[in-house]
Amino acid sequence: MLKPDTLAIHVARSVESETRVANIPVFRASTVLFDSLDEAAKRAQAVARGEKGASTYATASTPITAALMDALEQIEGAGHATRACLAPSGLSAISTLLMALLKPGDDLLVIDSVYGPTRNFCQTVLARWGVSTRFYDPDASAEALEAMLLPTTRLIYLESPASYTFEIQDVPAIAAMARRRGVLTVIDNAWASPIMANPFDWGVDASVLPLTKYWSGHSDVLMGASVVREDLWPDLWKTQRDFGICVGGDDAYLVLRGLRTAAVRMRSHEQSALLLARWLEQRKGVARVVHPALTSHPQHALFRRDFKGSSGLFGFVLDRTYWGIPENAQGPEEPYVARLLAALCEGRRHFGMGYSWGGFESLIMPGRLSALRSVKPWQQGPLLRLHIGLEDPEDLIKDLDAGFEAMAKIASKPHAL
Ligand SMILES: Cc1ncc(COP(=O)(O)O)c(C=O)c1O
Repeated sequence: MLKPDTLAIHVARSVESETRVANIPVFRASTVLFDSLDEAAKRAQAVARGEKGASTYATASTPITAALMDALEQIEGAGHATRACLAPSGLSAISTLLMALLKPGDDLLVIDSVYGPTRNFCQTVLARWGVSTRFYDPDASAEALEAMLLPTTRLIYLESPASYTFEIQDVPAIAAMARRRGVLTVIDNAWASPIMANPFDWGVDASVLPLTKYWSGHSDVLMGASVVREDLWPDLWKTQRDFGICVGGDDAYLVLRGLRTAAVRMRSHEQSALLLARWLEQRKGVARVVHPALTSHPQHALFRRDFKGSSGLFGFVLDRTYWGIPENAQGPEEPYVARLLAALCEGRRHFGMGYSWGGFESLIMPGRLSALRSVKPWQQGPLLRLHIGLEDPEDLIKDLDAGFEAMAKIASKPHAL
């Protein structure tokens, strides 16, 4: 089997043409033409069966979207029988997959530290549709999760590492337990991407990938994918078709173009993020750096066992005592904390403030965890999330250091500094 770096160059290159170009061209399409009515009828049947590359209309596929689906199956599903679907954002890939796998009356277990909009989707659309969602502690073991199963539990939704707080789950143990109990497992593999983790090797039934992040890598396109075990494909494909979920040719091209350099970019994100994380670990005023690849991370051993490497996204927690932040004031809404965070984040030369991540540029954003946790409220100090881009890490360190100096100027306990 080819390694991911080689696969990323190798996949989705060919298109039937006498002129051989290195890249698959963009196909902009709505209408797809037939040579005969008989062919139209036959192709409609092939689309209904979900045959690869079959199309009667560009919502089903075009050569470039089919090539991207094929790439996903080969890379994210490497070594497993999987099929992939594309959606116009990571969130829409998640929501379509959940609609495909669940039905009214089902019970759903979701990690408490799940990506916020996924949480919202479960609590609004799925709730209205008659699916009940229960959130579980990100530190829950497979045994603890098994004890939560109800006869109606259909699916366990995982995210490892988790959004903002970066807990690592024992996914192989949870997936094995779930399979034994006839429950499906779905994982959001945004953080690691298939370059750094292969969740199908851990035994999950499906994974979702926001291609917006590291696959495309340039902060200029939105797309998501769900990759499922082959036997789950018919339900997913049907739901996808019923909702009309599809992507355009230009965006598919951008994602494929990003994929070619994903492995080298990932290694650069990884190395620079580790440098910054280690620098922050030594910096006064930082209570904790939350990065699974650091030995200080509570589930570092699981990380070492299951992951091939890390990415550019991690967090750090401000030391409340050092900055004079009262016990009951840790959220970014609290005026003194808000001023501190503004001093740290605003006016940075290299760190932008913005959502999403996985692009070439560095980002800094405070976490607003109070609305995002229901099982275990966040009780540590203010948490910042960093995405380390492709800039020189020394420049990033200087920039962040300037942010700490700016905080020091307004800190309520300057004597402590
Ligand atoms: C962990 C995680 N999953 C899913 C998504 C959704 O991806 P998209 O922005 O493409 O909708 C995000 C976006 O930030 C994310 O952080």
